[in-house]
Amino acid sequence: MKITLLSLVSILFFLSVSASSNPSLLHSLKVPSLTDTTHFEDELSYSLYRHSCSHAEGIIYRKVRDWVKKDPTIGPSLIRLHFHDCAVRGCDASILLDHSGSEKSANVSKSLRGFELINEIKAELEKKCPKTVSCADILTTAARDATVLAGGPFWMIPFGRKDGRVSLAKEATAVPMGRESITQLIEFFQSKGLNVLDLVVLSGAHTIGRTTCESVQHRLYNYKGTKKPDPSIDPQYLNYLRRKCRWASENVYLDATTPKTFDVQYYQNLKKKMGLLSTDQLLYSDSRTKPIADALSFESSLFSNQFSVSMVKLANILDYKSQDYGEIRTRCNRVNK
Ligand code: HEM
Repeated sequence: MKITLLSLVSILFFLSVSASSNPSLLHSLKVPSLTDTTHFEDELSYSLYRHSCSHAEGIIYRKVRDWVKKDPTIGPSLIRLHFHDCAVRGCDASILLDHSGSEKSANVSKSLRGFELINEIKAELEKKCPKTVSCADILTTAARDATVLAGGPFWMIPFGRKDGRVSLAKEATAVPMGRESITQLIEFFQSKGLNVLDLVVLSGAHTIGRTTCESVQHRLYNYKGTKKPDPSIDPQYLNYLRRKCRWASENVYLDATTPKTFDVQYYQNLKKKMGLLSTDQLLYSDSRTKPIADALSFESSLFSNQFSVSMVKLANILDYKSQDYGEIRTRCNRVNK
């Protein structure tokens, strides 16, 4: 039977709507209220910098492109940095602050990279249009450009995020690290206003980039105290990982097949029991997420389109406190005096 793109989109739409409205699908889910974090699309504007800093997007793109040319591993790191920013107090650049006890100092943040590049972009923008472009907008745009440079989709970004003045390590501990259950992931995403479809689609960012072996070693020998490896790893892939991951500090690609290309191979790997993080592989065994991962695995235009949509949703998560008391920082790693 030939499945058309339209019917796939309908399936995904149905899944995302029913997952958030059908109580039977939400059986064990606690649905958090969205009092603190919500989507403020109306507060953002596509034309904000048109007159005040018309070259902002060009400056950001060229910097990201030049850095990626020198070090291609920086692209995926920017996308992850953006996710970690938006996951705590909304997209307010709170992850970039480097005072003691800030989000950046939390354990979950220790392998985050890309800070110097954002600081460099900011320094250049301050010369061209002082106190105009927020660090949160810079990070959002840099993540989009990194996606494009890896072969992924382009999307338009509305601007106007403020930079927050508060950043607390203890709040960053809520960001998933790769050992959570699907229910925990769904709950975390829901608490940010993102649904099951967004979870599966955004996890597809793991089609590029890498992890330290520390995140996977627990799956390789004594999984959950069984003295055996995680049974959901393909045996050949397991051998490869055991050889590759002798040291926790070693790096391994999240997508073992096409690690540098933004494509649907990540989802195809899940079918072959080659998901690297346990949270990746679980997407293919849970009935709430598997049909979506399956559909994405053979329809790359669907992945590209939906990735853009979900990234815009991610980037529009704003915390009203960060926004009301926010500012345009002059340096991204510290609040203004
Ligand atoms: C669903 C929950 C998620 C979990 C549990 C998770 C977990 C992780 C972990 C453990 C790493 C490797 C960290 C390290 O050791 O260096 C990682 C890397 C990465 N994550 Fe996620 N992540 C999630 C969602 C996302 C989302 C929503 C995005 C972006 C939209 C994203 C983008 C990335 C990228 C691009 C990398 C590679 C970073 C690099 O190469 O430097 N992740 N993620």
